[in-house]
Amino acid sequence: MSDKPVVVVGRKLPEAVEGRLARDYRPKFNPEDRVREAAELIDLCTGADAIMPCHSEHLPAEVIAKLPESLKIIANYSVGVDHVDLAAAKDRGIVVTNTPDVLSDATAEIAILCMLGAARRASEGNRLVRAGQWKSWSPAFMVGTQVTGKRFGVIGMGRVGQVTAQRARGFDMEIHYTKRRRLDSAQEAGAIYHQTVEDLLPHCDVLSLHCPATPETLDLMNAERLALLPDGAILVNTARGAIVDQAALMAALRTGKLAAAGLDVYKDEPHIDPAFFEIENAFLLPHIGSATSETRDAMGFRALDNLDAFFAGGEPRDRVA
Ligand code: DGY
Repeated sequence: MSDKPVVVVGRKLPEAVEGRLARDYRPKFNPEDRVREAAELIDLCTGADAIMPCHSEHLPAEVIAKLPESLKIIANYSVGVDHVDLAAAKDRGIVVTNTPDVLSDATAEIAILCMLGAARRASEGNRLVRAGQWKSWSPAFMVGTQVTGKRFGVIGMGRVGQVTAQRARGFDMEIHYTKRRRLDSAQEAGAIYHQTVEDLLPHCDVLSLHCPATPETLDLMNAERLALLPDGAILVNTARGAIVDQAALMAALRTGKLAAAGLDVYKDEPHIDPAFFEIENAFLLPHIGSATSETRDAMGFRALDNLDAFFAGGEPRDRVA
């Protein structure tokens, strides 16, 4: 019997990642790529040493309480860790890791796509062309918002926020941001710091959200804060759905307070509130921020590096609990 650690693998992962798992561990794969509910997940963890979940596997305190004694590490295949109750894991002495850095470029690309898709009415245009309903061209046809030279605001100027700001500079945008701790001037690269979210919002023609979902950021962008944005602003969310009050956002899109929104994440995804489907000025993507083959491999290798370090008796590089 091999003494390689048993790893429960949350979802179907890229071939190279599963290959390394099969070489170095005794993985329990998920070839059908099903989302496992809590009871099945707990059952699968019987006798396992580790689990490698994605953000689609939820590990709240009640699930963590039922994980077997043998399970020592949750090596997430994600940078976000809001699907795991970190305090409960810590209480049980279970180490938790994530996969920062490796998805910043891919997510920044999607944030820029969301900005442009929203500003230039990409959903509407795409639908019109595919439906064979594009009848004529005129100067008044499908006029959108130009982002070049406008102000780009970032809430959560961490890794993804900084890369996204850098990409926005390519459109000559002026960068504004807020963050608990101000960046040093090299990292700021000329970005204008605002101490609070409320201070920042009036300076954002485009607001891009990059903060984690925590109890403190739940519904951060509520009706009051949306009202602080300039009229005709654009909201981009590639972070987590929980940080936006969706009813307030829809109201702001319907009244035209916001010109548009570009969203890659939602509350209760993939069960998006169908009211979004009726809102023309929402550009909607299905949580694909990190969905490139390069990044999917890199996320897996980073999660594996964390597992390797842990089982070699060291400290995993990306320990979050
Ligand atoms: C992440 O890594 O947090 C992405 O949202 C995909 O799960």
